[in-house]
Amino acid sequence: MRITIGSDHGAVELKEEVKKVLSEFSDIDINDVGTFGKESVDYPDIAEKVCAEVTSGNSERGIVLCGTGIGISMAANKIKGIRCALCNDVYSAKKSREHNNANVLAMGGRVVGFGPAGEIVRAWITTEFEGGRHARRVNKIMALEN
Ligand code: RB5
Repeated sequence: MRITIGSDHGAVELKEEVKKVLSEFSDIDINDVGTFGKESVDYPDIAEKVCAEVTSGNSERGIVLCGTGIGISMAANKIKGIRCALCNDVYSAKKSREHNNANVLAMGGRVVGFGPAGEIVRAWITTEFEGGRHARRVNKIMALEN
């Protein structure tokens, strides 16, 4: 599975930590679109880069990070085809896959610690969409785009 990851300056350290966790999975190919330093950047630009990789099919999933995770998840959810879930706990991360088939995960670098973030990422990567009644609801979400 190819995963594209990106963060603004508010979560560059968390991005490195998440990449370490993703590297535990031998079948994951990590595509990092930045940012790479502490210089201020605008999170909608990062959301756009990550989500373009997902909607084009180049990456199966994306991970977006900013200070709170809020702005970058809002930006990601403006993009057609994206279902971005802001998850700062493991339960939400699992449910975002099982019930919502989230294709992008957002977290806040100033909100979640490295340990919990690792557990959130592991849960989100390994949990499958349940389909069934949830598929009907996800289809209704996607219909709202039109
Ligand atoms: C940047 O200072 C900060 O606003 C951003 O990382 C994020 O928290 C926005 O939602």
